[in-house]
This record gives sequence, C-alpha cells and structure tokens, in this order.
Amino acid sequence: MNRSTFAIAACLSATLLVGAISLAHAKPVNYQLPDETAELKPGEHLDVVQGNCTACHSPDYIKTQPQGPSFKKSFWQAEVTKMIKVYGAPIEDADVAKIVDYLSTNY
Ligand code: HEC
Repeated sequence: MNRSTFAIAACLSATLLVGAISLAHAKPVNYQLPDETAELKPGEHLDVVQGNCTACHSPDYIKTQPQGPSFKKSFWQAEVTKMIKVYGAPIEDADVAKIVDYLSTNY
C-alpha cells in the first residue's frame, strides 16, 4: 500500500466508523403534526366539497386563492376541471356543478 492509498483507506474506515456510531445512536423521531387550521365556510354543498376536495390537500388551497369579482364561476370551474384532468381527482360529473356553485358563492 503506497502512502496515498493508505490515506484513502484510513479516511474510508473513519467515515464508516462514524457512520456506524451514529447509526447505533439513531432513535425514532416523534413529532406532532399541527392541527388542521383551515375550515371551509358553511354553505350549500359544503359536504360535497369536503368529500371531494380535501383528500389530497388541505382546504387552505381553496382559502388562499385570490378573491374578487374576476375570480368567480369560471375561475372555480377551471380549478375543479384542473383537479380532475391534471391531478386525477375522482369527482363525479354530477358533483362538479355543486362544487363550483359552493366555491363561487363562498370564495
Ligand atoms: C387527486 C388529488 C386532488 C384532489 C382530489 C383535489 N386536488 Fe386540488 N390540487 C391537487 C394538486 C396535486 C395540486 C397542486 C399542488 C401544488 O402545486 O403544490 C392542487 C392544487 C389546488 C389549488 C391551488 C391552485 C392550483 O391550481 O394549483 C386549489 C385552489 C385546489 N387544488 C382546489 C381543489 C378543489 C376545489 C378540489 C375539489 C374539487 C380539489 N382541489 C381536489 C390535487 C388534488
């Protein structure tokens, strides 16, 4: 073994040793998830929205969208269509109108 291969070998075994020591000390990590903070406003078809729109992400996604006169029906229609077409949300055709109604009335 020449000098530099010895140096490499020494480095490697030091790394392995440190790795083994830290593995031996690894403990399970417990942490508490924060409570769900966002709640959707009460309104007609809220149940349909809760049933279809909270499986993948929190209702925060709905609440933090821009609001105002230009974010009405067509905006929410496009949003719901995107959830279905792009992200594969399994939403019944019959529920789409109810969801869009609820969202454009309340947000
Ligand atoms: C199949 C899973 C899934 C379901 C069900 C779902 N979404 Fe999403 N949604 C996503 C994903 C994925 C994103 C993008 C996440 C990101 O960009 O971080 C997203 C993002 C959003 C956003 C943020 C704006 C945007 O366009 O990215 C809004 C608003 C939203 N969803 C509303 C809804 C509504 C309303 C429903 C019910 C009709 C719904 N989602 C159901 C997966 C889903």
